[in-house]
Amino acid sequence: MEETPIVVARGLTKIYRSRDGAPAFRAVDGIDFSFGRGEAFGFLGPNGAGKSSTMRMLAAISPASGGSLEVLGMDPALDGPRIRARIGVVPQDDCLDRELSVRENILVYGRYFGLRRDLIRERLGELLAFAQLEEKADAQVEVLSGGMRRRLTIARSLINRPEILLLDEPTTGLDPQARHILWDRLYRLKQDGVTLIITTHYMDEAEQLCDRLAVMDGGRIVAEGSPRALIEAHVTREVLELRFSVDAHAAVAERLRDRRLGERVELLPDRVVVYAHDGEAALAQVHAAQLSPITALVRRATLEDVFLKLTGRSLID
Ligand SMILES: Nc1ncnc2c1ncn2[C@@H]1O[C@H](COP(=O)(O)OP(=O)(O)OP(=O)(O)O)[C@@H](O)[C@H]1O
Ligand SMILES: [Mg+2]
Repeated sequence: MEETPIVVARGLTKIYRSRDGAPAFRAVDGIDFSFGRGEAFGFLGPNGAGKSSTMRMLAAISPASGGSLEVLGMDPALDGPRIRARIGVVPQDDCLDRELSVRENILVYGRYFGLRRDLIRERLGELLAFAQLEEKADAQVEVLSGGMRRRLTIARSLINRPEILLLDEPTTGLDPQARHILWDRLYRLKQDGVTLIITTHYMDEAEQLCDRLAVMDGGRIVAEGSPRALIEAHVTREVLELRFSVDAHAAVAERLRDRRLGERVELLPDRVVVYAHDGEAALAQVHAAQLSPITALVRRATLEDVFLKLTGRSLID
């Protein structure tokens, strides 16, 4: 028997109406998605795709303008407080109290949640250990690194033992090492059965953390599936990247298309990208056509290629 989904959205829409009479803006444009308990689901998309708007509706912070949404079997418009009691929210901007210590931030948040003082104290040690912040418990947030702040925000969001954790760009702006530490923490939560909903514009993060993804652009979902299935469905296994002198790229792309090189040839501002099942064989054909690229690189296809194919644009602006 198929398990009932923990979240279901149908035609979910967010319209921002301006006060000064400017036209209303459709930030989320009728999207459908659902996910099951224990799943790690990702919204992957560039700036302005509508990821945070979607997350705020899921968190029962901002009302939907249209469509239907069910979280834990409840309607956020009617049951906001009951939903918020069972989910954790890590917003895109940390909103920590910088003048308070790490410990105080967790205590205050727990109180704000209406939890009993002794229960918060009981969980505090466990959360500090989880976030690897035990030695920083009395440090002011002000002096923490970006990675530590992010870990504190996540620790704080776990104070109510949420069934669903919403993470809006959990690692944006962090260095690679800090990102890996965070990924490890999130992976542990997933193993403990917490349902993770993550937004990101990093394809490697999506590939690392998410079982299933919705690729978003301009308020819509343009594709959905596991990272592997998305790559298999939309692009070839290998990719050949060619760099010539900048003004030569358009002519080269045209010539390669005429010769029907690979499955598809994409012209980018700084390179020509050939999608082929065998990248080395495609490169041999490039050389056979008397073309001499300055650099040539064969690599595996990634979600970035999927995004480029579906939208004609790169994920990172
Ligand atoms: N409160 C608001 N009022 C008006 N417009 C808004 C508001 N919040 C977001 N928008 C607009 O809605 C669109 C989607 O914004 P949203 O923050 O959901 O995107 P995002 O995918 O999270 O982007 P980013 O990667 O930059 O965080 C953007 O064009 C944004 O300017
Ligand atoms: Mg956002």
